[in-house]
Amino acid sequence: MFNADSKIYIAGHTGLLGSALLSVLESKGYKNLLTRTHAELDLTDKVQTEAFFKAKKLEYVFLCAGKVGGIISNKTRPADFLHQNLVIQDNVFEAANAYEVNNLIFYGSSCTYPKLCEQPMSEKQWLTGALEETSMGYAAAKIAGIIACRAYNTQYNKNCFIGVIPNSIYGENDNFDLENSHVFSALIRRFHEAQKAGNSEITLWGTGQPRREFIFSKDVADASIFLMLNAEKLENKPYNLGTGVDYSIKELAKKIANVTHFKGEIKWDTSKPDGTPQKLLDSSKLLALGWKPSVKFEDGLKATYHWFKQHYD
Ligand SMILES: NC(=O)c1ccc[n+]([C@@H]2O[C@H](COP(=O)([O-])OP(=O)(O)OC[C@H]3O[C@@H](n4cnc5c(N)ncnc54)[C@H](OP(=O)(O)O)[C@@H]3O)[C@@H](O)[C@H]2O)c1
Repeated sequence: MFNADSKIYIAGHTGLLGSALLSVLESKGYKNLLTRTHAELDLTDKVQTEAFFKAKKLEYVFLCAGKVGGIISNKTRPADFLHQNLVIQDNVFEAANAYEVNNLIFYGSSCTYPKLCEQPMSEKQWLTGALEETSMGYAAAKIAGIIACRAYNTQYNKNCFIGVIPNSIYGENDNFDLENSHVFSALIRRFHEAQKAGNSEITLWGTGQPRREFIFSKDVADASIFLMLNAEKLENKPYNLGTGVDYSIKELAKKIANVTHFKGEIKWDTSKPDGTPQKLLDSSKLLALGWKPSVKFEDGLKATYHWFKQHYD
């Protein structure tokens, strides 16, 4: 049973989600938390990964390690996203299975849903249509991970691997590098820099019409702990994880302009692509189990911007 004394490994604890998990688990009194930096344990190395699982006798694993990036890096290096995520997942799943971890959470992505999917996207619509081209390498690895959860549980007759599909995560420790960041963190940086430079306008990509759902990293961490605690009740199928609320990129830009105190004009370069028109998850299956998000978007945005300003230099 998942409890305060359980031996818990947070893979990728320096990243956006891993750092939120570490902080939420610590705040809830979980005492036996194991972490390794990428330099200390490269999860693409099968021998190192297996030796770590064998030596540590881990009971619970949150697999937050992976190669994650924004539209530009996904588009230009799809093979890296496919390969690195597949290898990490395969090594960790094999070791977790061999050394009998009680439960492992694997994080998929909303880009595993069809590009033109009925909204909100329920788990029933998974794998029913063509994917968005630009993130296909990453999405293929994430699809393999979700299928692996089901496959290991089925073949080894256990209820160990839990597949979760969160929508866009934002929060402290996000990547604010413009090449590799997601829309939320990229806009925070762009607006902050425009405000500091005293610019009278800012030009953003696309029409601003696409709609996106954002969930605060600590809400994803909280939901992940809830799933571990309720692992016995879960289906051998993935669970969507979102807030149920989406914003157009235009609305998001206005909210970020407000929090960063940018007073100039927001212009849209409509020659640039928009991507998938809407990505809103139907998370009712998870909500029906009794979990709900608790962080208001405005509060999460303020906390993220506060963290960004402290770490910007
Ligand atoms: N961010 C989102 O919006 C989002 C949405 C849905 C699902 N997810 C999924 O949630 C998980 C966490 O995402 P995130 O946004 O927190 O990612 P992130 O901030 O980029 O963090 C990734 C973590 O993985 C580590 N890592 C990368 N390669 C590694 C390797 N070979 N061996 C060991 N550690 C390695 C990184 O360490 P270094 O930085 O030192 O390399 C970092 O600690 C990923 O599986 C992602 O696909 C994310």
